[in-house]
Amino acid sequence: MNREYFVWDKDRVENYIRHFGTPQNPEKKHEARMEVASYLIEGDSVLDVGCGVGHFYPWVKGMDYLGIDLSEAMLRKAREFNPNGKFEYGDVYDLSKFRVFDSVVCLSLLIHLPNIEDAIKEMWKHAKKTLVVGYELGVGSVKKERYKDRYILYRTEIQETINGIVDSLEGRGNVYQVCVQDSTYYMKVNRK
Ligand SMILES: C[S@@+](CC[C@H](N)C(=O)[O-])C[C@H]1O[C@@H](n2cnc3c(N)ncnc32)[C@H](O)[C@@H]1O
Repeated sequence: MNREYFVWDKDRVENYIRHFGTPQNPEKKHEARMEVASYLIEGDSVLDVGCGVGHFYPWVKGMDYLGIDLSEAMLRKAREFNPNGKFEYGDVYDLSKFRVFDSVVCLSLLIHLPNIEDAIKEMWKHAKKTLVVGYELGVGSVKKERYKDRYILYRTEIQETINGIVDSLEGRGNVYQVCVQDSTYYMKVNRK
């Protein structure tokens, strides 16, 4: 997998925390995103893909939670902020080493991925009851911003793209779309 977009190093993590706050003291808009996601998940166990510094963890206390991320810098902070949480290295494009969870959630991850279809399909394989994906709706643009020797990828999706991917998921049942704020949306996909 091409990692030219993978730039979640220590500096960017510090910047992320300055912007969104810590899991215990989050910026208000980010907190609202976490709260809405916590209403959408189902069951007793949840896999949080691209967990970052663990902003979602305080919302799922008591559940069997695993946060995974490709950035060791993010994971270090997640463990520091949430000493009771479980956080492991993992890539959305290959979740084969993880078990199936009642809910799989990814919040503000798709915007940074080179291929969202493969990512959604891989997460679906690990969702027993429901998959919740957060995405930024827009004109379907992809913006590359230079960062050190790599790029940061920012993409918005058109609703038809997301609908098409979700429609093709084998065994999907009801689908719910929730507007969280401005252009941020969640799609919740249940199994039949
Ligand atoms: C914008 S942050 C969102 C963090 C968290 N979900 C939140 O909402 O606060 C995106 C996260 O996705 C992670 N990420 C990027 N590509 C990934 C991949 N292929 N697999 C797993 N995590 C990835 C980054 O390291 C980063 O922590």
